[in-house]
Amino acid sequence: METKTKKIIETAEETLLHTYNRYQIVLDKGDRVYLYDTEGKEYLDFAAGIAVFALGYNNKKFNEALNDQISKLVHTSNLFYNEPAVNAGAKLVKATGLKRVFFTNSGTEAIEGAIKLARKYAYNKDGRTDHEIIAMNHSFHGRSIGALSVTGNSKYQEPFKPLIGGIKFADYNDIESVKANITDKTCAIIMETLQGEGGIYPAEESFIKEIRKICDEKDIVLILDEIQCGMGRTGYMFTYERYGIKPDIVTVAKALGNGIPVGAFVAGDKVYNAMVPGDHGTTYGGNPLATRAADTVFDIFSEDKIVEHVKEVAPYLEKTLDEIASKYDCIKERRGMGLMQGLELTIPVNDVILKAQKNGLIVISASGNVLRFVPPLVITKEDIDLMAEKLCKSFDELTA
Ligand SMILES: Cc1ncc(COP(=O)(O)O)c(C=O)c1O
Repeated sequence: METKTKKIIETAEETLLHTYNRYQIVLDKGDRVYLYDTEGKEYLDFAAGIAVFALGYNNKKFNEALNDQISKLVHTSNLFYNEPAVNAGAKLVKATGLKRVFFTNSGTEAIEGAIKLARKYAYNKDGRTDHEIIAMNHSFHGRSIGALSVTGNSKYQEPFKPLIGGIKFADYNDIESVKANITDKTCAIIMETLQGEGGIYPAEESFIKEIRKICDEKDIVLILDEIQCGMGRTGYMFTYERYGIKPDIVTVAKALGNGIPVGAFVAGDKVYNAMVPGDHGTTYGGNPLATRAADTVFDIFSEDKIVEHVKEVAPYLEKTLDEIASKYDCIKERRGMGLMQGLELTIPVNDVILKAQKNGLIVISASGNVLRFVPPLVITKEDIDLMAEKLCKSFDELTA
């Protein structure tokens, strides 16, 4: 390791709170689907900063828009209107098929807002303050106390208890377990349309449709978390389109800003009127820089036909991963949708990740010993071939 890289890592460990076991790589710059570290080593990136960099690194149109905005205005507060927020908001409303947007700074904050909106809707109806929310086991919704409270992972939750009250957990894709948790206090059901961090599990059609039906019948708010699986990743602008349903609230982040921190919760007909001035707020959320990023992302999505591209290229990724899975005994299963795929392994996933890094490929993990593939949405078949070459080399070296 070169002295410069070593020095940065040492200083990081003396400076930054140790909440991550980081890989021993210092990333320096990126171009399209390639990343470069401080030693000039090139990596083919199939992680996209955890499903964020949808449009690839150093995208010219995106950079120009941001540079233009930086020289005009970066922040206003929400005491005033700003045009980028209005433009991005209109595009997000159209894309989701819902009614009103609240911009946040992260996915976690989008979840917080969604929980508050669901509770407020229920409170407006009956004035009760003991409403319950049903969340899913193996879900991931974020690390703040509210988002953690609906995250079905006891390892993440345990040291930070007590969390918020009234949360019950059901099993994903098991409708009976959801029904068993419903009471007259249930105000919301929250779930990812495709579980990411929990191990890449898509919702079964019958499950998600039945949930929608129950929410309609019992006037429960359905919150779909599309922070990871939304914005084109699965070959749909939002994954719920695949099932022909709509949530009452959808949470969005990651690809929405293509690397600029921005999230949103978007509310539909049933709930969008439930909050009034004073109920929710943020200093930065929806600032002109973040929303110019989101607005530009929508423009590039339509100009470059990103969703259509994902639809075209994703079957090739699936086929390639299936071929790799059939070649190695240490791969139990491939699962996923579009450009959000996982390989469940029987050898430690971290060994594969480290070996892949040596071979110039960045991949990440998900729970349950799963190798996760969430590349920039602009990847080509040639990029997939190169990924396969590097990945097979890594498996060969590990299983030889
Ligand atoms: C499905 C899902 N929800 C919520 C979050 C939290 O988003 P953020 O890390 O932007 O706060 C994540 C992050 O990985 C996620 O994958």
